[in-house]
Amino acid sequence: MCVGRTDSLDSPGKFQVSQVGRENLLIVRGRDLRLRAFHNMCRHRGARLCVDTSGALGKTIRCMYHGWMYGLDGRLTSAPNMADMPGMAKDEYGLLPVRLEEWLGYAWVNLDELAPSLGSQVEPQVQARLGDIAKLDRYGLDRLGCAKTIRYDVECNWKIFVENLMECYHCAPLHPQLIAVIPQFATGYGTISSRPGVGVEFAEGAGYSLSGTVRRPRLPGLTPADSQLHAVVIRPNVFLVLAPDHVAVYRLEPVSAGRTTVFVDSLFDPAQLHRTDADLDNTVELRDITVRQDVEACERCQLGMRSAAYQGVLVPAEHAIVDFYRYVYGAVGEPLPDAYREGAG
Ligand code: FES
Ligand SMILES: [Fe+2]
Repeated sequence: MCVGRTDSLDSPGKFQVSQVGRENLLIVRGRDLRLRAFHNMCRHRGARLCVDTSGALGKTIRCMYHGWMYGLDGRLTSAPNMADMPGMAKDEYGLLPVRLEEWLGYAWVNLDELAPSLGSQVEPQVQARLGDIAKLDRYGLDRLGCAKTIRYDVECNWKIFVENLMECYHCAPLHPQLIAVIPQFATGYGTISSRPGVGVEFAEGAGYSLSGTVRRPRLPGLTPADSQLHAVVIRPNVFLVLAPDHVAVYRLEPVSAGRTTVFVDSLFDPAQLHRTDADLDNTVELRDITVRQDVEACERCQLGMRSAAYQGVLVPAEHAIVDFYRYVYGAVGEPLPDAYREGAG
């Protein structure tokens, strides 16, 4: 799963701490500039190594309890009284690594050593939505600059939020400001439910902004044909909105069964970041209003779904959610309930 943008982890010793389920991970840039993830836990008696959520370490990671020292690559370098432990194989007491890959300017971790590669998991999802993996490359996410990250603390299970992102059936009643710039959303069918490579059109002359009037140059790398808005869910916890002039990256962090933190990054061409006439706030504001509307709906779902009487149904405009259900049920080793099988609902 994705644990965050890596542009602030740009030099040796820069680190962040991420919670993934019950595991707390230390993600740190090494002296060889490689980004690594480790369990944030001393190999001696388990003390948590870093308690700050981000920052810069020196050349080593030192445990505050008994002073074991580790390199930024996780190797145990020294421990007090090591001379008393001649038989101790230092190599065996390095920090426990967790698989990490950088992609799109973000860090992606996997706690399962035997899991398939990140590429083999995410590429089919991108292909299915955009029709072509090269299209995502054209947006150059790792070269864009983040104008703003907004954090939303949401009182719902993370899966409710993903479901919300996978259908546009709610757009007409819930998102009037969004409909004003992308009228097609009012039909209930949006990017996620369309054929591979097909996005949605903006209203004549409109751009993604609260006023509807802001139009910026296309992102470098895009072609005139990249004029629509596309959206991609990258399971389990990322949602990309690809507009011609910016990209929004939603990252969900499950906190507990009933709470999720959602981070939304608004990425622009770095050349636009400090231009006063670029009016980036106008775009960020439309997204913020839209996300707040989604947050309220998801929190209401959580309240209702708690009921023992809850039994939901999917309508045709929500068919993409079935893929997500299949993924979730598969991950927990259960069959997809008949009510959600293709053709039902
Ligand atoms: S728990 Fe870390 S040095 Fe003892
Ligand atoms: Fe929405």
